[in-house]
Amino acid sequence: MKIALGSDHGGFKMKEEVASLLASLEHAVSDVGCFSKDSVDYPEVAQQVCSLVREGTAQCGILICGTGIGMSIAANRQRDIRAALCHEAYTARMSREHNNANVLCLGGRVLGIEVAFDIIRVWLTTSFAGGRHQRRLDMLS
Ligand code: RB5
Repeated sequence: MKIALGSDHGGFKMKEEVASLLASLEHAVSDVGCFSKDSVDYPEVAQQVCSLVREGTAQCGILICGTGIGMSIAANRQRDIRAALCHEAYTARMSREHNNANVLCLGGRVLGIEVAFDIIRVWLTTSFAGGRHQRRLDMLS
C-alpha cells in the first residue's frame, strides 16, 4: 500500500520507527518529514500528507506529533480527510470499520512504540464496513 507519513519534532522519533515498520511490512512510504528534532509547524506537515491522500498519490496517511491532537485538528480541516486520533487498537479498528478513516494520527510523546505498532497493524488491515456507516459519512460531505 502507498502510505504518506509525516511528523513534527514531537513525533520525529516515533515517525522514524514507524517508517521502518512500514518498510518491513513492504508498504511504499512517502515520508514528507520532518527529518530532524528541529522545531517545525505541524499544520504544514499535516497539509502535505493530506494532499497526497486527497490526490490519490497515497491511499492513506499517518501523522505523528507530540500528542496527535494538533495533527488531527489540522488534518480534519482538509476536505475529504477523515483523520482518527487513536491511543489503542480498538479505536483504530473502529476508525476504519465505521469511519473509513484515511489518516491515522498518533501521539509520539504519549504512546509506547509497541502500542503504536499494534495500532498501525490493526488500522492498515481493517476494512470499512460500509452500509449504514456510508450513509453517515455522506452526511459529512
Ligand atoms: C510540539 O511541542 C507539540 O505542540 C506538538 O507536537 C503537538 O503535540 C501539538 O498538538
